[in-house]
Amino acid sequence: MTVVIYFHSILKQKGFTMSSKQTRRRFFKTSALAAATLSLGTYIESRAEGANDKIVLALVGCGNRGMSTITACCKGNPNVEIKTVCDVNRSKLANAVNSVEKSFGKAPKAAEDMKTIFDDKDVNAVWIATPEHWHTLASIWACQAGKDVYVEKNPSVNIWEGRQLVKAAEKYKRVVQVGFQNRSAPYAFSAKKYIEEGKLGKIVTIKSYCMLGGGKSKLPPDAPIPAWLDWDKWLGPAPMRPFNPAIVSESGRGGWLNFWAYGGGALSDDASHVLDVARMVVGDPPHPKSVYTVGGNYVFGGDRETPEFEEILYDFGNFSWSCSSGYATGYMVKTPGDVRSNKEKFPNWANNATRTEIYGTKGLMYFGRHGGGWQVLGSGGKIIDQDGGTFPDPEHQKDFITSLRTRKKPNGDAEQCHRSACLVHLGHLSYRAGNKQLLFDSEKETFLNSEEANVLARGTYRKGYEVPAEV
Ligand SMILES: NC(=O)c1ccc[n+]([C@@H]2O[C@H](COP(=O)([O-])OP(=O)(O)OC[C@H]3O[C@@H](n4cnc5c(N)ncnc54)[C@H](O)[C@@H]3O)[C@@H](O)[C@H]2O)c1
Repeated sequence: MTVVIYFHSILKQKGFTMSSKQTRRRFFKTSALAAATLSLGTYIESRAEGANDKIVLALVGCGNRGMSTITACCKGNPNVEIKTVCDVNRSKLANAVNSVEKSFGKAPKAAEDMKTIFDDKDVNAVWIATPEHWHTLASIWACQAGKDVYVEKNPSVNIWEGRQLVKAAEKYKRVVQVGFQNRSAPYAFSAKKYIEEGKLGKIVTIKSYCMLGGGKSKLPPDAPIPAWLDWDKWLGPAPMRPFNPAIVSESGRGGWLNFWAYGGGALSDDASHVLDVARMVVGDPPHPKSVYTVGGNYVFGGDRETPEFEEILYDFGNFSWSCSSGYATGYMVKTPGDVRSNKEKFPNWANNATRTEIYGTKGLMYFGRHGGGWQVLGSGGKIIDQDGGTFPDPEHQKDFITSLRTRKKPNGDAEQCHRSACLVHLGHLSYRAGNKQLLFDSEKETFLNSEEANVLARGTYRKGYEVPAEV
């Protein structure tokens, strides 16, 4: 393990002084100097070098996703360990400590405030699996503290903050791996190569689906804050509001995805993956020129904020792309477990809920999202090429660890994953602006014809939890 601390000399060069007794922790607590750090760039690096050097991780957000992936990462890669687990849900935090101890024979430290992790010089990388409204801010704080980051999708809840995360990763030279794990799938690489080689012909149109099941949602009355939860910290950057049991649950995920302040419904939950990997397969095209969404709660008439169904149409200039996403088609199925884990099996595409269809001039590629591989159909529906694939979490975790050790760019690169996340934001913003076609300035990442959409795309933050305008 190499810990490189450049603080003293660089601050001296810039005219700041710090006595040798001042600790790094105290440095971060000194606001003037902390501000100086932000303007000077990264001067702490805590990194592992060499193929087998120890890597120390800390988890922020001990829900099912965070716990399962960080545990699998430590089991699947040599010399990787969890030092600290952090959650604002005290029940999940206690369970996480027990679970890590059971898996690895040593209890991790428990933290209710993620800042204790950023202050810990032993921690190389922070694994962020909170709800979506925390992803960007926690990741930027981690980058500023010199930590590398694995952050779950969707990496942002609006376009502006997504760009701020990209800037932070660049400025502090951090490895930031976004949890769009399909970017590490071997079958996604082979599909990309197939298309690059022109075997599908010219892309005509793409159709992505996220046709999940669901029902009518009803908002119960607000309730007192439960003893197991630090509600203020759970809300973090989101506006203060009374606790409601429809948002957070003690042991499960709760319904935060139904609220604009914390997530983006089926589109950010699952369609984000479908769109992201399809973007990668067709060569990560630049932002679309426009987006038009039709949708709403006209299926069940429930009271969720994020729509029960959305139909989105993107104009990429030389091809069109549609995405159908929602919670009202329970007869469709996500790629089943036996297909996800078996490279030889393919989904039944007709009722696969999370497929993408890529129509080229020479053939139609069906592409799976949770594994499931791809198959190309030519005239008469004949299968003319295919490659199977499995759910690529292990590959994505390995890629992150390799990036930590070699400083290579991770597969879930912040820039490309931000652009994929923008497809989610664009779709929602067109819906929220009143089902209006929005023209997008891809350089400025703003809209040419809707101030309302521009305001929503910028987001607002609670005092003390602002995503910095200068990262
Ligand atoms: N890549 C994938 O395939 C995939 C799959 C499932 C979930 N996810 C993503 O992973 C994330 C977590 O999903 P989940 O199902 O575990 O959700 P969850 O709501 O069950 O877990 C999130 C945890 O974060 C905690 N948290 C909230 N604010 C916090 C804070 N300030 N500090 C520390 N902890 C805080 C919550 O208390 C909760 O325990 C989500 O963003 C989700 O979209 C990704």
